[in-house]
Amino acid sequence: MRNHHFFFDDSPMGGLRAFLSSTRLHLHRYLWSPTRTLSTMGSSSSTSKFTTEVLSCDPASIHFPPDSDEPSITSPETLQALRAASHHLKAKKQCVVFPTETVYGLGALALDSDASRRIFATKNRPPDNPLIVHVSSMTMLYRLLPPGYRIPTHYEALVKRFWPGPLTLLFPNTAGKVPDIITAGHPTVAIRIPSHPIARALIAVADVPLAAPSANSSGRPSPTRAEHVYDDLKDKVGIILDGGPCSVGLESTVVDGLHEDNNLRILRPGGITVEDIEKALAEDLEGSDVPVPRVLVHRRDYEDEGIEQAPTTPGMKYRHYSPTVPVTLLCTHSIPPQDTTPTSPHDYFSSLKYLSKTVARPAKVGVLLPSDSPLQAFATDVPGVDFHHFTLGSVSDPSTTAQRLFDGFLTLDKLGVDLIVIEEVEEDREGLAIMNRVRKAASESRWLR
Ligand code: TXA
Ligand code: MG
Repeated sequence: MRNHHFFFDDSPMGGLRAFLSSTRLHLHRYLWSPTRTLSTMGSSSSTSKFTTEVLSCDPASIHFPPDSDEPSITSPETLQALRAASHHLKAKKQCVVFPTETVYGLGALALDSDASRRIFATKNRPPDNPLIVHVSSMTMLYRLLPPGYRIPTHYEALVKRFWPGPLTLLFPNTAGKVPDIITAGHPTVAIRIPSHPIARALIAVADVPLAAPSANSSGRPSPTRAEHVYDDLKDKVGIILDGGPCSVGLESTVVDGLHEDNNLRILRPGGITVEDIEKALAEDLEGSDVPVPRVLVHRRDYEDEGIEQAPTTPGMKYRHYSPTVPVTLLCTHSIPPQDTTPTSPHDYFSSLKYLSKTVARPAKVGVLLPSDSPLQAFATDVPGVDFHHFTLGSVSDPSTTAQRLFDGFLTLDKLGVDLIVIEEVEEDREGLAIMNRVRKAASESRWLR
């Protein structure tokens, strides 16, 4: 057993900090549902049934000193929750839900096939969709790689700049250290070091790599708050660590840099933007004798028959990111297909009253628009339609839109709306990842001018 250093701060200020943070967390809990919630065990699903406990954790109480992989944890409540989660993972070989900076993850021991199999059962995830392995340090990363493996220079630049953080890199699994159930039998394994203090501390406390997909039933939007997870997976998981809302809100960027041409292929756009990756590579490699690799976005810059068929490019093969209600994408600047005549915003929003006939009451329409979108003025005052607005970031602030997107889908879904409309955003910076998720969620597109 490794010796961990957990520092309790029992100075008067530490006590005050603990009190303040626990007050804040209690308030947060109170706002969405009772915590340490005991849910009933009446579900008849084939997965194990649990009494789901939601344990509050305070991310601000966890620090990783720059020169150490060991967290210092000043909140006793948080430390206790992390230890309970670690026990659940290691002794019981069960799944635990934990927050990451991107979305909440459903974690299990990555190197234990039986434990990892529970992830697939809990989410109802197809077994041919591989999982990301989460580690807390470079030392733990190396334990998963083939002996003597040297990280490629272009990866080094990305690791230096973006780890810990929302970037997932593909590595060779040629030594077979990671079980096939995680890699879906591929010769590569996807790995990242999360920057969320609770995620990283949980992995460090347990001292094991954790496989973790997003903590949602397959096909649903990824959860960005503990409440989203509870609504979806209660009774199916024993422990949900609640660390508040995720700051990035979209999943990590998945990068494959293992091709012979040394170019980086973006399999899934995400929390780290393509622009940021290009900038980091240019800054790190220019002037060196290593050529700066190109960054290729799948489907935008290259096609690959192989990954179209296999599910390794997330969302290619399977339904993804969909709320239970239909989603319509409102295209306000992209060019309509040749045979499509755009509608005026006024006519489009007025036409939504047809929905009230279908549902025999005023229609409930969820509206996801940038805060300063000109469409805001039209999504109001239509007889027979109740609009429920969930505001995204401003047009110039795609990172706020990214942070709010899944919360918007899930909140409107829970409100029981009959339809969600969402406006397209420019496909640069976080907009690339936003539109990647929105296109998969939308069942229909309408062009408005
Ligand atoms: O931000 C995230 O990445 C979150 C948090 C929890 O870390 N996790 C997440 O996991 O989004 P998941 O399973 O929902 O998406 C991971 C994607 C999968 O869809 C899979 O296709 C891809 O990463 N992936 C995993 N291993 C791969 C591999 N060996 N080759 C190619 N793609 C892989
Ligand atoms: Mg997912």
